[in-house]
Amino acid sequence: MPLVRADTSSITSLASTASRTWSVEEYADAAQVAIERLAAYVDASQRGAEPAIAQPSIEDNATALGLRELIRGGGMDTERFGDFLAGYLERTTRLHHPGSLAHQVATPDVPAALGDLIHGTINNPAAIYEMGAAGASIEVVVLDWMLEKVGWSTAESAGVLTHGGSLANLTSLLAARARVAPDAWTRGAPPDLAVLAPASVHYSIRRAVAILGLGEEALIELETDELERIRVDRLEQALERAQAAGRRPMALVAASCATATGLHDDLQGIADFCERHGIWLHVDAAHGASALLSPRHRQLLDGIDRADSLIWDAHKMLRTSSLCAAVLVRRGSELPGAFHQEASYLFYDERDSAGIDLIGRTVECTKGGIGLKLFLNLAWRGERGLGEYVADCYDKTLRFHDLIERRPGFECPYRPESNILCFRRGRDAGRQVAIRERLIAEGEFHLSSAEMGGQRYLRIVPTAPATGDDTIERLLDAVEEADRVLD
Ligand SMILES: Cc1ncc(COP(=O)(O)O)c(C=O)c1O
Repeated sequence: MPLVRADTSSITSLASTASRTWSVEEYADAAQVAIERLAAYVDASQRGAEPAIAQPSIEDNATALGLRELIRGGGMDTERFGDFLAGYLERTTRLHHPGSLAHQVATPDVPAALGDLIHGTINNPAAIYEMGAAGASIEVVVLDWMLEKVGWSTAESAGVLTHGGSLANLTSLLAARARVAPDAWTRGAPPDLAVLAPASVHYSIRRAVAILGLGEEALIELETDELERIRVDRLEQALERAQAAGRRPMALVAASCATATGLHDDLQGIADFCERHGIWLHVDAAHGASALLSPRHRQLLDGIDRADSLIWDAHKMLRTSSLCAAVLVRRGSELPGAFHQEASYLFYDERDSAGIDLIGRTVECTKGGIGLKLFLNLAWRGERGLGEYVADCYDKTLRFHDLIERRPGFECPYRPESNILCFRRGRDAGRQVAIRERLIAEGEFHLSSAEMGGQRYLRIVPTAPATGDDTIERLLDAVEEADRVLD
C-alpha cells in the first residue's frame, strides 16, 4: 500500500510540474493572436475608425468580458483569449487615435511595446544586477545618456529609473532632505523644514512633502504670474516669509513644464536665487525634459544643468508605455543619501559584483526592466528621431493654437511652449466641464480640463502622430455644436 501511494504522488507531482512549465507552442500561438489583434487595434485607432474613448460601466464590462466566470472557473485558451482580447480592446481609451488629446500619457511606439513583451516573458527586475545583468546595464547606460543630455558629467552625476514621475519626485526630495537634515532618516524629519513651490506644482510634490513627514503646510507657496509661472522677482520675499514662519527651505521646485499649462519656469533666474541661498533646486521636468532632444526647443530648459536634481519621464514624451521615469542628481553621491536602509539579503557591505545594484537609490525593491523600453525606442528611432517627434508635437500645438484663436467664440490664454494647450469656449467654468463630458460621451474626442489662475479651461495634449490640423478643426466644430446643444 505505501508503495502505491508513493507511486501515485510521484505521478501527480510530475504531471503538475509538466503542466506548469511553458508550452512554447501555446505561447507562440497566443502571442500571434495577440499581435494580430493589437496590430488591427492600432491601425483602426490611428485611422480614427473607432471611438477614442469608451466608458461602459464596470458591470457592463464585467459581464461582456465574462470576468467573474473566468476568475473563478478559468478555462481560457488561445481561442477564447482572442475573443476576450477583442472585447477588451473595444473597451479601451485609444492613445493612437487622432482625437486622443487628454493626458500626458505617451502614444507608445513599436520598439517600446516589444520591450514590454520581452520583460513580461523574462521578468528580470532591474534593481539588482544579479537578477538581470542585461537590463541593469541598459538602465545604467540609458541614465548616462540622459545625464549627458542635461549637460552633466557621468563621472559626477547619477540617476535611477523609477516607476513614474511621482516616485521620482519623492526620491529627489528625499535626497534634498538628506542634505539639509542627514539625521532625518533615523531621527525623523525636523519640524522646521519647508519646500518652496508654486500652488500649481504637480500634486505629487505636495504628496511627497506629506510623505516625508513634513506636513503639507511645509509647502510654502511661491508667487506666480497670471500664467502660473514662478515670479523670480518675488523669491526673496517668499524666503523671508518662510523664515518668519520659522521654516528652513530644504528645496525649491520649479517646473519644466507645468502640468496644467505646459509653460516653463525661468530656470536661470531661479537657479541664481537657489545658489545665493544654498537651496536645493529640483526641476520637475517630467514632461518637458524630452525637449532637450530637439535643437530648436532645448533653450526652453536653459539653466536645467544648474539644478541639483530633476526628473524626466520617458512615458510622457519619449513614447514608452507606462512607466519609465528618471531621477537625475547633479552630485551623484547625494542620491544614495535618499535611502539609508539595510536589508541583509540584498545589500552586502562589500561585494564582488560585475555591475551596480541600483536598489539603494529607489523606493521600489522589485522593479521592471523599464530601461529596455526607452533603450529600444532610442535604438530604433535614434535620439534624432525622438527629438523630431517632440519638435513635431510642439510645432503642431502652436498651429492648433492659431486655429483656435482664429475661431470666433474661442480663446487661448497664452501661446503654447510645449504640446500642452488650454483654451475655452466662452468664459463659464461649468460650460467647459459640460462640453468636455459631452465630447467624451460622443467618443470621437478625448480632452481634459484644467484650472489656471482660478479660471477653468479645456486642455489638449497632442501626442498621437495621427492628430492633424483637420482633427482640431473637427474638434472645434464639435465644441461649438456641444455648446449650442447645451444652451
Ligand atoms: C510635471 C509633472 N510631474 C510629475 C507627474 C507625475 O508623473 P507620473 O504620472 O509618472 O507619476 C506629472 C504627471 O502628469 C507631471 O505632469
